[in-house]
Amino acid sequence: MIISKVTKTNPKTTYSLVNNEIIFNADLSTSAKGLLSFLLSIPANKKIQKKDLKQYFTDGYYSIDSAFKELVDRKYIQKIELRSEKGRFIGYDFEVYDSPKKIKKEVRKIVNNLNNPKSVKVDNPEKLLNQIFIEDCQLTMLKMPNAFVDLVVCSPPYNEIRKYHGNHDFDFENIAKELHRIIKKHGVLVWVVGDETYRGSETATSFKQAIYLKEVCGFNLHDTMIFEKNGSAFPANKNGHRYTQIFEYMFVFSKGKPKTCNLISDKQNRWEGWTNWGKKTQRNNKDEIVETTNINPVPEFSPRNNIWRYATGAGYGTKDKIAHEHPAIFPDKLAEDHILSWSNEGDIVYDPFAGSGTTLKMAKLLNRKYIGSEKNKKYKKIIENRIRFILR
Ligand SMILES: C[S@@+](CC[C@H](N)C(=O)[O-])C[C@H]1O[C@@H](n2cnc3c(N)ncnc32)[C@H](O)[C@@H]1O
Repeated sequence: MIISKVTKTNPKTTYSLVNNEIIFNADLSTSAKGLLSFLLSIPANKKIQKKDLKQYFTDGYYSIDSAFKELVDRKYIQKIELRSEKGRFIGYDFEVYDSPKKIKKEVRKIVNNLNNPKSVKVDNPEKLLNQIFIEDCQLTMLKMPNAFVDLVVCSPPYNEIRKYHGNHDFDFENIAKELHRIIKKHGVLVWVVGDETYRGSETATSFKQAIYLKEVCGFNLHDTMIFEKNGSAFPANKNGHRYTQIFEYMFVFSKGKPKTCNLISDKQNRWEGWTNWGKKTQRNNKDEIVETTNINPVPEFSPRNNIWRYATGAGYGTKDKIAHEHPAIFPDKLAEDHILSWSNEGDIVYDPFAGSGTTLKMAKLLNRKYIGSEKNKKYKKIIENRIRFILR
């Protein structure tokens, strides 16, 4: 057996292990192969705790956590979130693909039940409106019936750029599937995301997430928009290797065709009032120039394009000083522009990663109903403050 080092053990985490045949010429790291061979060597009905692995993996270069992550990412094993009947998170279970194990009666697999409305207990969803839930967004979404919200505007944690006191590692795949379930038909999801540069390469997490939301969850990728910032904390230098990173993606997904598209028309036209060089003429189908009544003069304003520019940084993105206690807020105006574009007054707007509460604040200001989830209780006071004393 290949030896690996065990670090960061979590006694709450359990691994259910089954015997299986494995094609072992896979392109895996040595520690992942070692871990996999170890998992496969354990009898099917034996269940061990992660902390118990310590006695088998005592030396080596990689942490046991990275090996597990690699096996999950490469789809050799699957990570399953376990919850009690009341929906309380009780840990993760890992199992080797194609060999499902029986789950104890009092525990259910959240991944399999998410698309089954009967498995989701809904206690008067009206109670969820205009509320902030300081909890994992998966718990909040469990309380929502199918096709419940009109619009989601959110920005998930970006790799490890910011750690949010340990809340950066989120269960993207299950959250993405849940978002698809709770969004109404023709509703919209705005996913604002950037990439971390790690060892000289951008992670491309944003693209991977966009492809997953489209290909696996079934969203329509309505528009790939750009959030251009006025500045960067790390401007390029003449002798450096890369240009200043100045934008983030704003992927706009919809469940089918978006039901609300109030395009913001604030692009001033230079040729306002003009027709066809002063003449109302057009070519007919014989290619002759003829007088027509069809041509309207160029309007004063037209819909803007899909690159939106906002000032960021203290005092610019928002007037709320308290908001800057959160390390990664997006500008009030960005949330406002998306809420205006993809929803109407009275609609339900949800932010599963509320952070400092920007989306919630702007939804309230624009007479929408809001729902927010934020895992980190340190941000509760910021959100409550911003929603209570709305500053423009
Ligand atoms: C990029 S920030 C969002 C900032 C927000 N858009 C704003 O303007 O303030 C991401 C937030 O998601 C939170 N978070 C991470 N995983 C979460 C989860 N599973 N459920 C709820 N919140 C989570 C983090 O604590 C962090 O505050």
